[in-house]
Amino acid sequence: MESTRKKLITLLAEQQEQYVSGQKLSEELNISRAAIWKHMKGLEKDGYKIDAISRVGYRIVAFPDQMSLNTIQWGLNTSWLGQRMYYEPQLDSTQSLAHKLALEGAEHGTVVIADEQLKGRGRLHRKWDSQKGKGIWMSIILRPPLEPQRAPQLTLASAVAIIDMLASQVNVKGQIKWPNDIFIQNKKVAGILTEMQAEQDLIQYVIIGIGLNVNQTAEEIPEDLQEIATSLQIETEQTWVREGLIQNLLKEIESVYEEYVQNGFGSIKKRWELAAYKMGDWIKVKAMRKEWDAKLIGIQNDGALIVEDTDKARKVLYSAEIDW
Ligand code: BTN
Repeated sequence: MESTRKKLITLLAEQQEQYVSGQKLSEELNISRAAIWKHMKGLEKDGYKIDAISRVGYRIVAFPDQMSLNTIQWGLNTSWLGQRMYYEPQLDSTQSLAHKLALEGAEHGTVVIADEQLKGRGRLHRKWDSQKGKGIWMSIILRPPLEPQRAPQLTLASAVAIIDMLASQVNVKGQIKWPNDIFIQNKKVAGILTEMQAEQDLIQYVIIGIGLNVNQTAEEIPEDLQEIATSLQIETEQTWVREGLIQNLLKEIESVYEEYVQNGFGSIKKRWELAAYKMGDWIKVKAMRKEWDAKLIGIQNDGALIVEDTDKARKVLYSAEIDW
């Protein structure tokens, strides 16, 4: 059940420019005006700044700078994912803490979240900009009963979960750029970094690291990335409550993971291809120290990318950089 508090925040967050009357809130939430007032005081205590005008209504002026573990876990609607959760205001990288916890035996579905990362990392040893209070910086520990070569499918499945969350919660259409970038309107909004510890033929654990730009304004995106990166705030002109997005994202990841374990990669592959960026278009592929034009055809069952060269020869790529 969605908590009243969460519904209240959502109602106010949807209408940040306008005041929402106490009457409307009381009708929508089915609670008394006195109870609404009490909730407002609670929100203020947790760092929300509320503007209240008598006989007009309420408006959220500012959201709390920091997330709290309590607020994330309150409305969490999962069976196992995130039931064990670590939240830190500041970490070097949630990936590093997740590795440490996994090596110490942390259970399948453990989640690590930070409000800020000092050494956030992306694929190919790139830095991942992780400003305080601006995004979702999260690592998930999974212990899937799979062979190591199937781990890339988990990255693709997580990308599908992010797309579903963006559609249902933010009402935006995201697209997936193989293997791990989430785009909105031709700019990157999120990335996934999958790291794994495996024995010969069995995954010991996988860490799915997700970075999602949420509340950065255009000026807050680092200058060298402004042409290629975006945030939910930039795309929707609205501030987002990260806790609610995390709750929904974890729900989507849990559901896609269960579908994957029960039915295999087939249906997820279809969903991935439906959301794929530039599917059927000409792209520039950089791999094996070469660069060439090719058409994006799809992905294989093992998660590898299929492209078609100008002479119609198909190639399967396990590692490549793609440009347009
Ligand atoms: C990429 O696009 O290259 C992947 C970016 C992954 C960033 C996330 S933020 C949470 C987790 N901790 C990190 O240090 N990296 C991942």
